[in-house]
Amino acid sequence: MRLDVLTIFPAFFDGFLAHGIARRARERRQVEIGIHDLRDWTYDRHQVVDDRPYGGEDGMVLKPEPIFRAVESLTHRQSDPSIILLTPQGRRFDQAAALRLSRQSQVILICGRYEGVDERVAEHLATEELSIGDYILSGGEPAAMVVMDAVIRLLPNALGSPTSAQYESFQTGRLDYPVYTRPATYRGWSVPAELLTGNHAEVNLWRRRAALRKTLRYRPDLLTDPARLDDTDRRLLTELLRAAAPAAQPAECNSSP
Ligand code: ADE
Repeated sequence: MRLDVLTIFPAFFDGFLAHGIARRARERRQVEIGIHDLRDWTYDRHQVVDDRPYGGEDGMVLKPEPIFRAVESLTHRQSDPSIILLTPQGRRFDQAAALRLSRQSQVILICGRYEGVDERVAEHLATEELSIGDYILSGGEPAAMVVMDAVIRLLPNALGSPTSAQYESFQTGRLDYPVYTRPATYRGWSVPAELLTGNHAEVNLWRRRAALRKTLRYRPDLLTDPARLDDTDRRLLTELLRAAAPAAQPAECNSSP
């Protein structure tokens, strides 16, 4: 697949491309990545990419012309690319979106800046607007790296093993189970005994329970789809909820003095 990024800070991406999964996937030719400076599509001497907002207000807005020109020149014939504007006003990026994008032949990521991007980009150029979460970044560059990382690792063989990404959080509808490594005891904190038994069934049951406990604690919203829970999950969840419920108050505690 091909990933193109439009930004006014191309150097932001140097570290991202030099290390880890992006570097490996490029070396193996699983992905082609182009980082493009928006100023290359300006025609004025000062390479102006922004201007004041109509209607007043502080701050500057990215102009439409360089963005339209850039996207039009980066669009590969017949690739029908996903053209994504990264903005806090977009739909929330998630694993399903990463999977969908990983199946595209070309994705173009437009990094917003300053107070925003002229709305005609969202209305007439972008195929979708994506946000990586409910917080405001000073620009779309970190968001573009988040999207690229999540997409690249889903490309066939990008993780080295075809099944690695298949059983992860969000694909399975719950958070991942916790993991431990040596030493078996550190500062008096021991690795759960079940993981040291060598008994696969026991290890798997412990992992399931631990994953459900974490999900219940931090992301209970993931557990609301009953189709994603089997009988064992339901039994483990009932046990966990029972263990978490406060003990029934003895009657005399409720009577006022
Ligand atoms: N630009 C600024 N904040 C952002 C966010 N949360 N997601 C995507 N792009 C952004």
